[in-house]
Order: sequence, then C-alpha cells, then structure tokens
Amino acid sequence: MRIVVTGAAGLIGSAIVDRLAGEHAVVGVDLRAASQVDIVANCTDAAEWGRRIGALDAIVHVAALHAPHVGHRSDEEFRLANVEGTERLIDFGISAGAKAFVFTSTTSIYGNALEPNDRAAWIDEQVAPRPRDIYDETKLEAEELVASAGSSLTCTSLRMSRCFPEPAELMATYRLYRGVDRRDVAEAHALALDRKGPPATYVISAATPFHREDAEELLHSAPTAIERRCPGLIDRMAVKGWTPPRSIDRIYDASLAEHELGFRPRFGIEACLSGDWDPPPSR
Ligand SMILES: NC(=O)c1ccc[n+]([C@@H]2O[C@H](COP(=O)([O-])OP(=O)(O)OC[C@H]3O[C@@H](n4cnc5c(N)ncnc54)[C@H](O)[C@@H]3O)[C@@H](O)[C@H]2O)c1
Repeated sequence: MRIVVTGAAGLIGSAIVDRLAGEHAVVGVDLRAASQVDIVANCTDAAEWGRRIGALDAIVHVAALHAPHVGHRSDEEFRLANVEGTERLIDFGISAGAKAFVFTSTTSIYGNALEPNDRAAWIDEQVAPRPRDIYDETKLEAEELVASAGSSLTCTSLRMSRCFPEPAELMATYRLYRGVDRRDVAEAHALALDRKGPPATYVISAATPFHREDAEELLHSAPTAIERRCPGLIDRMAVKGWTPPRSIDRIYDASLAEHELGFRPRFGIEACLSGDWDPPPSR
C-alpha cells in the first residue's frame, strides 16, 4: 500500500513509519525534518502538498498538538491543528482515492470519566468520553469527523494510552493498567490499516492482568490485587527497587482491539523487568 503517515518525526509517528516501511511505500509528513519525514509540511495544507503525492491507499494521522502543549498553545491553535488538520486530511484522502484512514486518538478524552468513585474506573469503548481540556475536546471532535467521513473510507480511531518516556518504575507499573509501549501502538496501527467495515474506535493499551471484579480492591489496596493476579511480581519489582502502586484509579481495557483487530500487546511490565524499553525511561 501507499500510505501517508503524519507526525512522522514524533515519538509515535516515527515508530509507525518504522513498523510500516518494510511492507509498504510510506510517505512521512511533519512540520519538522527527520529521517522518517519525506515532506516537511503542515497537515492543514494537505490540499497543496497532497498534489505532489498523487494516488494513495491509506492515511495514518498521528500529528497533533497534545497534552504537553496544553497551557502553552491557544485554543485556536489546538482547533486548527487537531480539528481542521484532520478535516483537511480526510478531504485529501478521499480525493486521492484512499480506502483507509487511521486516526491516533487518546485515552485522555475520557477525562472526568477517569475519576474513581468507590472503585477504579474501568475504561473501555462503552464508557462515554468526558473531555476536561482543549486537548481532549479537539481530539474528540477529530474522532467525530473521522467517524462521519463517508463510506469510501474505512475509518478507525485508536485511543492509545500513555507512552511518554518517564522514570522506569512509573513506566513499568503503568503497563499494568494505563500505559503502552510505542512498538505495540505501531502494531495496532498496522492492524487497523487492514480492517474492513463501518467506522470503529478502540482502546489501545498494554494487556492488563486485572479483571473487572478487582476494581474496588485496586483502588483501596492495589498490592493485594497485584499479588493475586501476578504472583511473585512484587518481589521481582523489589529487586529493581520498584514499589507497587498503593492505589490504582483506572484500568484501560484493550480487549475489544484484541478480539476485533487481533491486537496482542507484547511489551508489558515483564518486558520492562527484562530491560526491554522503547522509548527508554527518563531519569
Ligand atoms: N505520547 C503519548 O503518550 C500519547 C498518548 C496518547 C495519544 N497520543 C497521540 O499520539 C500522537 C503523537 O504523539 P507523540 O507523543 O508522538 O507527539 P510528538 O509531539 O512527539 O509528535 C507529534 C508530531 O506531530 C507534528 N505535528 C504537529 N502538528 C502538526 C501539523 N499541523 N502538521 C504536521 N505535523 C504536525 C510535530 O512536529 C511532531 O513531530 C498525538 O496525536 C497524540 O494525541 C500520544
């Protein structure tokens, strides 16, 4: 396939280009130059730079202003980049004959729905998003544009969880309930490109060992639930100097993506324990 990947210089986009490049003809687009970028341009100008590309099969739209930009960029800049940028890419995709559009969304759009009550919030596609900032709002608006893009495109939104480089202990424990490795994110995008059918949305996160019935215990005594579901894990974490979280407030459940896309996340806390990091932890 001939595939445009936006945000190709970024943390996620570069991993997606690397994953797809062996099998497909990939055109990386970004505001910034990088080895994965073929066209340095703005998504909002897709009608113009798109002419240079010609016909294509799919668009993977990763570029966005996101969480680190909140408070540093205006609401108008967020709307232009995340909503209008998406709209113009959809228009370009349709005119260039693309058959698939994969949008990198975020679990952040669940917003206030992530607040626990008497138990950890169990977050899957059935939970209604409750955006709490301009990032959440504009990603949700973009998802809605993608979902209504028309029958010529197979449209998929992937609500991915957190994968910033962070201290090792944090990144590792997040893989139990609210984090993901970007290699798994890239694989999810590759799987979504092959999907057929009406628009669909999936949560993408590392495989959680927890079950819904653990939610109350997770909030009040997370180590008890961790020891029951993953015997010996706490001792193995202790060897690294990592302590388990005392309380877990939400679980991202990617089981719909497992069933419908065949998503099998490979890089959970065991990969972290064995030193297999991507991206590497921060200090
Ligand atoms: N990193 C995470 O933990 C995380 C979690 C959930 C969702 N996401 C989503 O993943 C996507 C990428 O995040 P990332 O962490 O790789 O961010 P990043 O900042 O590393 O990469 C984003 C890239 O997009 C480019 N870009 C931004 N606006 C553009 C525009 N208008 N036109 C062209 N290029 C533009 C930037 O130059 C940058 O290279 C975003 O859509 C974000 O919402 C990321």
